[in-house]
Amino acid sequence: MSSDDSLPALLGGPPVRPQGPPAWPLPDEDVARALDVAYCSGNWGKYHGGCVEQLEQRLAAYHELSFALTCASGTFAVEIALRALKVGPGDEVILAAYDYPGNFLSIHAVGATPVLVDIDADNWNLRTDCLATGLGTKTRAIIASHLHGGMVPMAEVRTFADTHGLRLVEDAAQSPGAEIQGQKAGTWGDISVLSFGGSKLLTGGRGGALLTRHADLHQRMRLLLHRGNHICPLSELQAAVLLPQLDKLDTRNAHRAGMVVALTESLNGLPGLLPFVNAVPCKPAYYKLGIQFDSNKFGLGRERLVQAMGAEGVALDEGFRALHIGRSPTRLRCGGELLESERAHSGLVVLHHPVLLGTHADVNEIVRAFRKVYANAERLGCA
Ligand SMILES: Cc1ncc(COP(=O)(O)O)c(C=O)c1O
Repeated sequence: MSSDDSLPALLGGPPVRPQGPPAWPLPDEDVARALDVAYCSGNWGKYHGGCVEQLEQRLAAYHELSFALTCASGTFAVEIALRALKVGPGDEVILAAYDYPGNFLSIHAVGATPVLVDIDADNWNLRTDCLATGLGTKTRAIIASHLHGGMVPMAEVRTFADTHGLRLVEDAAQSPGAEIQGQKAGTWGDISVLSFGGSKLLTGGRGGALLTRHADLHQRMRLLLHRGNHICPLSELQAAVLLPQLDKLDTRNAHRAGMVVALTESLNGLPGLLPFVNAVPCKPAYYKLGIQFDSNKFGLGRERLVQAMGAEGVALDEGFRALHIGRSPTRLRCGGELLESERAHSGLVVLHHPVLLGTHADVNEIVRAFRKVYANAERLGCA
């Protein structure tokens, strides 16, 4: 590297990845073919062309469940799941204090109260031994989300739910095809949820799905989703492009996981950056790779790190806000101390997934970008 190459892109040096982050979705001949078939058959303009039905069957078979229903978004799927589980006004729902904000709002949408519990110190996902701190006489359900490559130990959550007579919604929006404790993500909940939103591993631009093994819940969800006609459907065109992606999910998840192993090993030793660690046996899926960032050790603030990595051509973002921060305490209940959630609020960065379908040259460039920013942290902090 010449001295000029060592200058951060944010300060006028050449970016490590001038090509920038890869676009998503990827060009995909099978998707193009599916669109062509949908056009030629006229299915693209029909209510019922067969693709939605086929996708629902394929999703159920892939998860080895009896039932899958599609809808317009993962966010709405969570609300439908709660309604089907008869969660309503006066009830409480436990979820991690660091979670997708839409889940918090979906609990409000059904008139219930979110109860926030703390997260695991190593992967900043729901911590199972904190579930008890959220338990109260009004507790009716748990929402367990797998976030940023962190996998929630679902066997423990399932046992807790069963022991206390609670219903369980598993949010696998970020982790289709992942495995936890020998079982697929999306199969642990009474109802589990997927998202097909535009940045997701399976993308239809928009969309979601509900998975269950229970015939009564399936029937209730069908009724909630229909008023003579489906009220928030996935279109035939969306289903058509999702089918070929489902075929490739396992291969792509394995590739992404291999890249994460390589990246994690290469980042080892760089102060202030700790990729998530899962304690239970699992095969994570990576919609984002969560990295615990300690700005004191790294010598640079998080916002500046994200800017500097962006300038180097790496899609690094800040994580979600913790759910109790900046919200009125009247809208929630805190189940115990939320110290790790507060750390995650200010200390999480996430690497967006498309680059994880690249090569080891991509991993090396990401690491070079982190090292360059680290080496120039002081100058970047002052500039
Ligand atoms: C964990 C989680 N759950 C649910 C959703 C909602 O999905 P959608 O964008 O399809 O509404 C998201 C979206 O980012 C998510 O990350």
